[in-house]
Amino acid sequence: MQRDDWLRPKGRASFYALAAALFLALGTAAAQDKPDPLPALSGDIGRGQAIVVSRQAGLCLLCHAAPAGDSRFQGNLAPNLAGTGSRWSVPQLRQRVANARSLNPDSIMPAYASTEGLNRVGSAWAGLPLLNSQQIEDVVAYLQTLQD
Ligand code: HEC
Repeated sequence: MQRDDWLRPKGRASFYALAAALFLALGTAAAQDKPDPLPALSGDIGRGQAIVVSRQAGLCLLCHAAPAGDSRFQGNLAPNLAGTGSRWSVPQLRQRVANARSLNPDSIMPAYASTEGLNRVGSAWAGLPLLNSQQIEDVVAYLQTLQD
């Protein structure tokens, strides 16, 4: 057999058949390992912290204190975020950041992933959430590091 035999049509067909079989086998194995079919975005702790302390993006420190940013200008309308990563699991943190109103309809905390129920939204921002999915994951990754 010559070295480039596998490039010939017959060889190529079996190569593709093998690749397809492997793909299916790996796909099935992966599906069994991971019941969650949602594509996972992974959060970046540094970007999350930047959003939390930002006076433009997150504005979290308007209401919360956190062990980050300038401690002279932090809020006291909401629980201190120090230790929040020990109090809540990742899905619980995500729910609180994405839509605190889903837990407490009267919450003053903005529903960062929501595009509904917002007041006086400028036309340039209509239909956009305050934070996109990647930013929510970044914030959650940072909150997770705030352990007691
Ligand atoms: C306008 C005020 C306000 C802003 C801004 C705000 N929050 Fe909140 N947050 C609250 C209040 C009030 C609570 C207490 C629960 C409730 O009333 O919903 C809370 C609860 C939380 C909790 C649960 C705290 C705990 O440990 O019990 C987390 C986590 C949280 N906020 C994260 C954030 C993050 C991250 C941001 C910025 C992206 C943010 N919050 C912005 C008001 C705010």
